[in-house]
Amino acid sequence: MFAQELVDALYPHWVELRRAFHREPELAFEEVATAEKIIAELERLRIPYEYQGKGGAVLGRIEGKGELTVALRADMDALPGTETTGLPFASVIPGKMHACGHDAHMAMLLGAAALLQENPPPGRVLLVFQPAEEKGGGARVILRSGALEGVRAIFGGHVTHHYRVGEIMVGEGVVTAQSDSFAIHICGRGGHGARPHEAIDAVVIAGFLITAVQTLISREIDPLHPSVVTIGRVQAGSAPNVIAEEAWLEGTMRTTHAEARRHLHAGMRRMIKALAELHRAEIALEIREGYPPVVNSPKETEIARRAILQVVGEKGLVPMEHPSMGAEDFAFYLEKIPGCYVRFGARREDEFIPLHSPAFDVNEEVLKVGALYFAQVAWEALREYGG
Ligand code: NI
Repeated sequence: MFAQELVDALYPHWVELRRAFHREPELAFEEVATAEKIIAELERLRIPYEYQGKGGAVLGRIEGKGELTVALRADMDALPGTETTGLPFASVIPGKMHACGHDAHMAMLLGAAALLQENPPPGRVLLVFQPAEEKGGGARVILRSGALEGVRAIFGGHVTHHYRVGEIMVGEGVVTAQSDSFAIHICGRGGHGARPHEAIDAVVIAGFLITAVQTLISREIDPLHPSVVTIGRVQAGSAPNVIAEEAWLEGTMRTTHAEARRHLHAGMRRMIKALAELHRAEIALEIREGYPPVVNSPKETEIARRAILQVVGEKGLVPMEHPSMGAEDFAFYLEKIPGCYVRFGARREDEFIPLHSPAFDVNEEVLKVGALYFAQVAWEALREYGG
């Protein structure tokens, strides 16, 4: 449907766009220069858009022949961190970097916009450039604004080194985990390192707690329901010979099953209550709800599958084996609107660099795959719904 010659002709420009985004990364809700670049390209393509300013989304509207609307989404934010790629277009902003590939997502969606302008679909396409995927849930801001009212389906995706360029992973149902974070405060009684009987040692209690919570995963949760508890931050004490009065622990929980999640939350509370009693301490637990799971709807997954076959063929279609333990705020859209979230293989032959690594980079050939997929899936969806 989209001529390879057209894609090849547009590709160098998509690479330029991606590199411009990459050079100037901005963190969640601060994507102003990024939005300006998107707007400049939409204007060049003569696509009407809306932008409310800092912290807002850029929404582009492609008018086709038909009343129905499908949405395509790319995220705009970068991450804190110092880039180590040494690339000529590496970040020029100290301490900020596109380490999650959102620069590629934006270039892909602008690529799809160009393709759809050349070949108008049988309906309307809403291009959603979303702020703050990494932190703060920019998806919720867009949903609250009402911008997606009347949208029939939404499609999104993410680059990854888990697959090669030319491969797209797709699956129905749960594709990413529910993520919840927690904070624990242990309050004992400080004292002299030589006289433990006069104190209640918050560090020893923290030690018990760190290992105890792992038994929730290994002994209480059904192993067929993938779940993770990670304590990533521990803070206590002031001197080697002082018994710490307080300790703070912070972590994240990932679950893919509602019952496993309930059990994990209840299990944390139960253990903390018991450990407090066991060690004569006071322990407080705060659980903060994170992103819900991304759940792909059956019909839209089928539509995505058809688009993938068109773009990369049977050989490039990778069926999902199991959900990822990562989290993604695309989930908020899918709670309200049916849709499908896929993964674009983006590694070079022999290298694997995880997302969020300071050395992260994509094989830019993925821009062709992503742009074609987004354009194709919009077409497939509008045709399916009879746009
Ligand atoms: Ni990401």
